[in-house]
Amino acid sequence: MTATAAVLHEFGGPLQIEEIRFDELERHEVRIRVRASGICRSDLTVAATNHGFPVPLLLGHEVSGVVEEVGAGVQGLSVGDHVVGCPVNHCGRCDSCRSGRPFQCSNHGATQRAAGLPARVTSGGSPATQFIGIGGFATHAVLHENLVVRVPAEVPFEIACLLGCGVSTGLGAVLNTARVQHGDSVLVVGCGGVGLNAIQGARLAGARRIIGLDTNDAALDLALQLGATDVVNAREDDPVARVRAANGGEGVSHAFEVIGLPQTLDTALDALRTGGQVYLVGVQKPDAVLGIPFRHFFAQKSVHGVAMGSSIPHLHIPEYADLYLQGRLQLEPLVANRIALHEVNDGFERLRRGGVARSVIVF
Ligand code: APR
Ligand code: ZN
Ligand code: ZN
Repeated sequence: MTATAAVLHEFGGPLQIEEIRFDELERHEVRIRVRASGICRSDLTVAATNHGFPVPLLLGHEVSGVVEEVGAGVQGLSVGDHVVGCPVNHCGRCDSCRSGRPFQCSNHGATQRAAGLPARVTSGGSPATQFIGIGGFATHAVLHENLVVRVPAEVPFEIACLLGCGVSTGLGAVLNTARVQHGDSVLVVGCGGVGLNAIQGARLAGARRIIGLDTNDAALDLALQLGATDVVNAREDDPVARVRAANGGEGVSHAFEVIGLPQTLDTALDALRTGGQVYLVGVQKPDAVLGIPFRHFFAQKSVHGVAMGSSIPHLHIPEYADLYLQGRLQLEPLVANRIALHEVNDGFERLRRGGVARSVIVF
């Protein structure tokens, strides 16, 4: 079967709209008619330089749609279901998966076809890679069932797609990884599509202070709208002192770095109180080396790596959908632009320029 997709052929080059061809569904696979696909910064990052995902590369990993066909052995999904794709690739059988930590799966290649595995999608006759097992910038996508979560049909597609990455990552980092509690003080460095969900997680957890830090005033306005108690523009003098001032003169208990820059990790560490914790949500190149001054360890601070907000897709995505339907998680303000598939390069450009929150491709 064929579909139309935005395909990357050269790192740093534009995505090209073309026809792709899917193999027959294998066991445990699901074909989705894509209805909405969010543009996340990770798509832009892996399109710009080689991060180990070979071209031709099908980007897009924040996707919602309708199940069109289910392969043999698929359980709990039927044609017509409204679903979200969630890139927590997990085998379901390793010790991490069995102990409830699919986001730490030691066999995550089992549910995605990367380099060296037979392609299930081809572009111009060449095997194509589906970025982290999804490949959502396309009219159709074929996913392993472990990555497909049913959501209530009342959640609009353009909202539902955000649950798969931006919400899972940002909200999950605060609620699942850090387990922020009532009374904690939280700094969110980077108030984009992911960071704004971290702010909402802190609000839902009952944090006493929630401070948003960003260089973009529009992002800070959204941060205030979504639950920040204070905001600091990182372009002003001594942003760390301003964060501490906003927290009654003390460092914060939890800081979330949601950009992926060494200097903003420094800012997050400096803004912590003694014994505070940084959660590194922003993504860097796999071989990036971070220099951390030893004084932070004297001060008993720690840095935690976070992947997909420690979300357990089939447990947490329905919870996040409920929070949205109950009006406790605001997602409409995150959809800044709705664009067509052929405008995907404009969506990338807007993100590169530092637009606010998400552009969503609607089909
Ligand atoms: N200081 C403060 N804020 C900054 C800086 C800086 N030096 N540089 C960028 N920002 C802000 C931008 O203004 C923007 O609001 O960080 C925000 C980043 O948001 P997005 O571009 O929307 O990125 P997002 O999709 O939220 O992803 C953030 O999380 O999951 C990872 O791969 C993802 O590393 C990326 C990060
Ligand atoms: Zn993402
Ligand atoms: Zn596993």
